Amino acid sequence: MDRIRIRGGKPLKGKIPISGAKNAALPLLAACLLTDEKLTLGNVPHLADITTMANLLGQHGVGLSLNGAHPKQGFAGRTIELTANKIASITAPYDLVRKMRASIVVLGPLLARCGEAKVSLPGGCAIGTRPVDLHISALERLGADIELDQGYIHARAPKGLRGAEIIFPMVTVTGTENIMMAAALAKGDTTIVNAAREPEVADLAQCLTAMGAEIEGIGTDKLRIKGQGRLHGAYHSVIPDRIEAGTFAMAAAITNGDVELLGARLEHIQTVARLLAEAGVSIEETAGGLRVRRANGMLQGVDMMTEPFPGFPTDLQAQLMALMCVAGGASMITETIFENRFMHVPELRRMGASITVHNASAMIRGVKQLTGAPVMATDLRASVSLALAGLAAEGETTLNRVYHLDRGYERLEDKLSACGADIERIREQDEAA
Ligand code: EPZ
Repeated sequence: MDRIRIRGGKPLKGKIPISGAKNAALPLLAACLLTDEKLTLGNVPHLADITTMANLLGQHGVGLSLNGAHPKQGFAGRTIELTANKIASITAPYDLVRKMRASIVVLGPLLARCGEAKVSLPGGCAIGTRPVDLHISALERLGADIELDQGYIHARAPKGLRGAEIIFPMVTVTGTENIMMAAALAKGDTTIVNAAREPEVADLAQCLTAMGAEIEGIGTDKLRIKGQGRLHGAYHSVIPDRIEAGTFAMAAAITNGDVELLGARLEHIQTVARLLAEAGVSIEETAGGLRVRRANGMLQGVDMMTEPFPGFPTDLQAQLMALMCVAGGASMITETIFENRFMHVPELRRMGASITVHNASAMIRGVKQLTGAPVMATDLRASVSLALAGLAAEGETTLNRVYHLDRGYERLEDKLSACGADIERIREQDEAA
């Protein structure tokens, strides 16, 4: 397995292009199942998860063509053309779904298009059990018969889906996306109450609208979808990745650097920017994106609680914790979305961080200096938080199990080394040689 080696202490200076959002691109790819015409997506990031979704759609019978910048030159997103003119299989198999839980977003579109879908239950993952009960009960409200059998969700709606009022007891991002896509082809109107407001949900709604859907309340927690007989092809460009932008903003802050995040949008990370300002990090809008640097050289500990958008995103919790490890004073971080998202804590402690965890809250007491160490990545965002810590630590940090990183960050080491970081990927075969 590849590893990443970082020698810390170099302030990041320069520009980092922000790629298309992974968590927007994944449901957007699945939306192709809703029409027999061509859906073209621009600014698609080069990520392992995108390849997994493309493989999943391919086995459903979707014709795909990928073009755009070769991954080794520049960071321009890819253009992907998808045509689901006939669905060869209604089954999303376990061996693909287990690789990526977001595969669950094919359930709604497949059921709406074909009247039947058989999707493997995603199972838990490192950060939590992550049930899909809310997806299932909402689809039943739209008229589907659903059986759970041998690890599969078997959904049927032979007479098609019919619009209904869906009230989500808790905010679910992919649950909102699944229902929005299913409702787009249902008979009659669907209202989703307590809908997720993440920008990636709004991006999907914009794409569905371009495909002929009628959706009101985009960006709010109440969506009204007027079912259509069919949807047509469209072109849609994926929004920039706010989690990647937030991650690199913290990389600039932790190294006392000065970085411009090209393509990043302040409105997608308002809460993050406000909290970082309290911590002593200035984020200002530029013609090309966002400029990030420390306001006066010092970092100050701040308290944070993760919340659904527009609150502080859980996907940036681990990264903020790394930053707080070297801030002045103390910081209390509470994770309210997932039940086990502190796996970066023991690894940060091995780098000299002072962190105490009580249930869903972690108290971080800033230290003068972290020290490099061999560390283990466990999930996508925990692994990048260890990379941030390594950028600031004295000495060498080696990050193992880098495949977690590659799922959500496009050539992280290239983007960081272009800004002066001493970081390199050690490929397995290099080691073998
Ligand atoms: C999406 O996951 C993101 N993934 C996650 O990003 C992100 O952390 C999460 O939303 C929260 O913002 C994609 O968009 C592909 P949820 P999702 O349904 O939709 C509970 C990353 O690092 N829940 O909003 O699976 C659930 O257990 C990933 O890029 C139920 O109980 O998350 C969790 O506690 C990690 N039953 C909470 O709701 C359900 O049926 C929020 O989950 C669904 C969810």
